[in-house]
Amino acid sequence: MRIVVLVSGTGSNLQAVIDAIAAGSLDLSIAAVGADRHGSYGVERSAAAGLDTFVVDFKAYAERADWDAALLDKVSSYRPDYVISSGFMRIVGPQFIEAFPRRYLNTHPALLPSFPGAHGVRDALAYGVKITGCTVMYADAGVDTGPIIAQRAVEVLADDTEESLHERIKVAERELLIQVLRELS
Ligand code: GRF
Repeated sequence: MRIVVLVSGTGSNLQAVIDAIAAGSLDLSIAAVGADRHGSYGVERSAAAGLDTFVVDFKAYAERADWDAALLDKVSSYRPDYVISSGFMRIVGPQFIEAFPRRYLNTHPALLPSFPGAHGVRDALAYGVKITGCTVMYADAGVDTGPIIAQRAVEVLADDTEESLHERIKVAERELLIQVLRELS
């Protein structure tokens, strides 16, 4: 099974997938790792691991539809079975979703439908929930609104900050993503 992983930031969830493959506990191949911006550590660490990488720079396109089309062309060129958005901070257009029906997965650091969007951890903490968690779902053209595949709960601690809570959620998120990929492969 071939996957393309899309990242924007540090790519620690991606690193967990790379490590699981290297450890022989996940039987799939990462055809490429891509980002929407230059300087993503997720892309740097992937290149260091010998993986194909690419950047379709969101800021390089005057029209969003042109960026969407360029991203779809690039990702499609790797012929992936699945595309994994892990810390990818862009919402792709409907053509991308249609090109990969139930084959574009996203991870989110909250128990959807609660706390969607770019600040799910901050919003959960601010609301005062005692339990939050993470979600893996089939992405659709909305913001964190696709069909849910799996979820895992994470307790919120009294002295949690956004950072400490997010790091603990990411531990669960990595395990959940690897579990889902193992079931799909
Ligand atoms: C993850 O929690 C992801 O769900 C969210 O941002 C975080 C990215 O972390 N969108 P990393 O880039 O994998 O370290």
